[in-house]
Amino acid sequence: MDEKKIINILSDLKHRVFPRPFERLAVSGNNLIGVEIGVYKGLHTESLLKHLDIKQLYLVDPYELYTEYKEGKTHYGVDQDPLPLAKKEALERLSQYANKVSWIFKKSSDALDEIPDELDFVYIDGNHEESFVREDIISFYPKIRGGGVLGGHDFYNGFCREHDGVVQAVTHFVVQNNLILQVELPDWWTMK
Ligand SMILES: C[S@@+](CC[C@H](N)C(=O)[O-])C[C@H]1O[C@@H](n2cnc3c(N)ncnc32)[C@H](O)[C@@H]1O
Repeated sequence: MDEKKIINILSDLKHRVFPRPFERLAVSGNNLIGVEIGVYKGLHTESLLKHLDIKQLYLVDPYELYTEYKEGKTHYGVDQDPLPLAKKEALERLSQYANKVSWIFKKSSDALDEIPDELDFVYIDGNHEESFVREDIISFYPKIRGGGVLGGHDFYNGFCREHDGVVQAVTHFVVQNNLILQVELPDWWTMK
């Protein structure tokens, strides 16, 4: 098989196969309260809502090409749809779950005050640069209850090393805190 075909298969695995390992293997229980950082068109949000027994899901996404969001500028409106279009699509897709979903149209770093403690899970898929992933991990981990799950997307070095920051930030955190890291591509997670 040539390299291009392999890259296409890996891309499908990353973006188009649902449920993802996070909701299939990492999280279980009833009346769950969780957070997704980075929603885009809401495709993974819909999978979380379909495959987990969710009471409340906080959705954090500014839908904005802010200055430090370099990765967004190279994709949204270039090889993927612009963020305002993605927001519209997510709002439509998730309207049927209005009673379970709380939208926060802010960067994750500005959303903490609006999110309760004792969360069952947090799924990180916002800005993939190492410093942003590190900040998401460090600021959201304390909000997870004992036995809850911290995880995210893109534990994966493909696509011109674009997601090296995820691998670096996650690996650093679990080693420093002596945690067990689980990886089932394209997701990663650790239990608190
Ligand atoms: C890869 S997409 C998310 C895809 C979605 N999780 C899925 O799997 O269908 C990344 C999203 O993160 C959002 N984002 C970028 N920086 C962010 C930040 N600092 N906090 C929260 N969301 C952010 C972008 O607006 C974009 O919609």
